[in-house]
Parts: sequence; structure tokens; C-alpha cells
Amino acid sequence: MKYSFKKYQPLSLRLWHWLNALLILGLLATVLIRKTFLSWRTNSVVIQEKLKAAGTEITPDFAKEIAVAIRNPLWDWHIYLGYGLAALIVGRFLIAVFVEKTPIGASLWNKIVGIRALSPEEKPEATHHVLVKLGYLLFYVMTFFMVVTGLTLTFKSDLGLSKELATTIKENHELAMWFFVGFTGLHVLGVVIAENRKDRGIISDMVHGGDID
Ligand code: HEM
Ligand code: HEM
Repeated sequence: MKYSFKKYQPLSLRLWHWLNALLILGLLATVLIRKTFLSWRTNSVVIQEKLKAAGTEITPDFAKEIAVAIRNPLWDWHIYLGYGLAALIVGRFLIAVFVEKTPIGASLWNKIVGIRALSPEEKPEATHHVLVKLGYLLFYVMTFFMVVTGLTLTFKSDLGLSKELATTIKENHELAMWFFVGFTGLHVLGVVIAENRKDRGIISDMVHGGDID
């Protein structure tokens, strides 16, 4: 049983990895901009005050409408990137079936079971390996969740969703964002540490593939 992180990375997985990283960082960026520079709460007050100084009084509701209209083109990008992520999660499934050709979860299960047979010196490293792989599995489950809830919100009127249900889905979609913030931070830190310790070349393997096992 191999518990090393270094393995040949097929071209399809490499392309998938970098596209996926770009899309998720892009999705997080749209949220960051929405909540800061393009926040309707801040901008509607600015619009109202500037117009007032110029001699025009508008209602807070109208100021909010203008601020939201300015924000909308940014949010269109959240949806476009979201469609991209939906395509990528299907792509990842196809790579697992047609390129990696391991029954989903089977090799991970074998690794978990295999830990018992290892010596006490080997166990901590193998346990860490399995935890990292379980983290990836959780990443895929959470991404699937974001895609399903995101698409449901995008088509909420077509689906005839009640206001309460749409609000609950949005709250959960929003809360789940924190998983991606945590995952990205831990993941990048983890691969940089691995690169500097036992797995030298792990990052460049994600660019050129590395040695064929
Ligand atoms: C930008 C800096 C990044 C670097 C240098 C990097 C590097 C790597 C490396 C070296 C691996 C292989 C390690 C292993 O198999 O355990 C990997 C795997 C992975 N990365 Fe990243 N990554 C980056 C960003 C991201 C981001 C932003 C995401 C998504 C939020 C992401 C998601 C993943 C996933 C899901 C895997 C596992 C792929 C699989 O199923 O084998 N990565 N990354
Ligand atoms: C990792 C991926 C994603 C993250 C981190 C993320 C994050 C968020 C956050 C934080 C919000 C709440 C924004 C707010 O109300 O202030 C949101 C809303 C939303 N997201 Fe995502 N999202 C992701 C994927 C998707 C996908 C795949 C779609 C589908 C195409 C999507 C579509 C939407 C929609 C329609 C809303 C509701 C916007 C509204 O009601 O104003 N998202 N997203």
C-alpha cells in the first residue's frame, strides 16, 4: 500500500486542478467584492448623500435599487463561474471513471483498512495521508452541494421556490463558503510544507505530471 502523496498526475487531472482552483478563487473573489466595494448598504448611503448634496432627495429604497443595479454585472460573473464549476464537477467524475479507473472511494477505503497492519512508526504518516485524502473527498461533496444549491437559487423562479425555502438554501450556500476559505488556506499551506519536506516536486508534478509510477 502506497501512502506517499507523490504520484503521476494525468494531464486531464492537471488541467482540471488549475481550472478548478481558478474558478473557486474567482467565486470567492466575487463574494469578497460584493461584500466590500459593491456592498449595497455602504453604496446606497453614498448615493443618497451625494445626491442630497447636489440638491436631490431620493428614498433609501431607490438608493438601494441603484446600488444593486451597479452590483448586478459583478454578480452575473458569480453565476457564469458557477456554471463552469458545475461542468467541472461532472468532469472530475468522468476523470475518476475513465482516466483513474479506480472505483470511487475504493482505493481510499483500502488505505484506511491497511493502516491497521502497519508498524507504530509508519502509522502517523499513513493516518495523515488518509486524512488529507478524506479532506479531498469532503471537498468534492461540498462542491457538489454548492453547485446544486447555487443552480437551485439561479433558477428559483422557474422552479417556483417559496421565499422561505429560497432564503434557507441561500443561508446554507452562504455558510458553506467558509469551508472553501478554510480548505484553500490549509491546502496551499499543506502542499508548500510537503514540497519543503518529504515530497519535493509535488507542486511541479501538478504542472508537468511527474514520473509515471
Ligand atoms: C494556488 C495554489 C495551489 C497549489 C500550489 C496547489 C497544488 C496542489 C497539489 C500539489 C496537489 C496534489 C497533492 C495531493 O495529491 O495531495 C493538489 C491537489 C488538489 N488541489 Fe490544489 N493547489 C492549489 C490551489 C487549489 C485550490 C484553490 C483548490 C480548490 C479550492 C485546489 C483543490 C485541489 C484538490 C481538490 C486536489 C485533489 C485532486 C485529486 O482529486 O487528486 N487546489 N493541489
Ligand atoms: C465554491 C463555490 C461557491 C461559493 C464559495 C459561493 C458563495 C456564495 C455566497 C457567499 C453567496 C451569498 C452572497 C450574499 O448574499 O451576500 C452566494 C450566493 C449565490 N450563489 Fe454562490 N457560491 C459558490 C458556487 C455557486 C454556484 C456553482 C452557483 C450556480 C451557478 C452559485 C449561484 C449563486 C446564487 C444564484 C446566489 C444568490 C445570490 C442572491 O440571491 O443575490 N454559486 N454564493
